[in-house]
Amino acid sequence: MPTAAIIARSLTKQYAALTALNSFDLEVAQGSIFGLLGPNGAGKTTLIRILTTLMRQSSGEVFIQGLDTRTAGRQIRSMIGVVSQENSLDRYLTARENLVLHARLHGMDKQLYSRRIDELLELMGLAGRQKDFPDTFSGGMQRRLVVARALVHQPQVLFLDEPTTGLDPQSRRAVWDYVRSLAGSMTIFLTTHYLEEAEQLCDRIAIMDHGRLIALGSTQELKDRLSGTTVYEIEFERNVASYAALLKAMACVRTIDAKDNLLHVTLECWECLSEIVTALNGAPVRRISLKERTLEDVFISLTGAGVRE
Ligand SMILES: Nc1ncnc2c1ncn2[C@@H]1O[C@H](COP(=O)(O)OP(=O)(O)OP(=O)(O)O)[C@@H](O)[C@H]1O
Ligand SMILES: [Mg+2]
Repeated sequence: MPTAAIIARSLTKQYAALTALNSFDLEVAQGSIFGLLGPNGAGKTTLIRILTTLMRQSSGEVFIQGLDTRTAGRQIRSMIGVVSQENSLDRYLTARENLVLHARLHGMDKQLYSRRIDELLELMGLAGRQKDFPDTFSGGMQRRLVVARALVHQPQVLFLDEPTTGLDPQSRRAVWDYVRSLAGSMTIFLTTHYLEEAEQLCDRIAIMDHGRLIALGSTQELKDRLSGTTVYEIEFERNVASYAALLKAMACVRTIDAKDNLLHVTLECWECLSEIVTALNGAPVRRISLKERTLEDVFISLTGAGVRE
């Protein structure tokens, strides 16, 4: 079996008194797309900075393609691509020159990089602006240029720290399509605050908070972790309270929540629905619908609803 593309073991990072990463363990399979979610300040960027050798851990170990970040930094940097959270373009170079500089820093041949840069500029919708300076670009265009730059040297592992923040829906979709097309040929590790993005793109998702890993799995596995996954929404014309009391007394009803004309009913299993329908025979019901659980429900249930400082 090939080694995992990314392995982190008991990774800890202290910033003075603050523990930004706390015994973090992680394995990302070759060719997969892995998504890391977490509230502001959870430690996502800290983790990426350590994985990409930009910062040293306080303890624990990291292997990228089997190489130790503490001893093989140079070699690792030659085979990874990094899109950092902040756009870090050279403002005194044109868009194209930014890409050329990156290619040359990676020791690429002019013949090879010229074609590759043409392709990437085209793909990111920047070909027409390649002679302009990044300062004259919109935020979204700068972001696309940074993504293009990370791909110039055809990395084996690509790290994307919030790649689509600030992008309009069209550009976001263009980045998604491209990331998807890379799947299999490259391992991709991304962080995002867009749960839909993680759901659309990632084979596996980790949720972290306060420097710790708190959940890991496919979107479906994470959704299944929510207790009582089958929730029905029942809308009444009137008398919600009396029907809430009636349903609450039934054995197959786990929890019940009333708001205005709506009842949210969590059932033991979906087959219980027929019992509910029977019990509501003749009731002024307007609508019964299945309330699908979203990744956002999982995220909020694991990390809480409060805003982070
Ligand atoms: N260079 C630093 N010095 C001291 N503390 C830092 C430093 N960098 C980050 N921190 C702290 O470490 C914690 C984790 O920060 P980090 O940037 O990794 O979070 P994040 O998950 O990327 O958040 P966001 O979603 O806002 O980007 C935060 O409490 C932050 O204030
Ligand atoms: Mg961050």
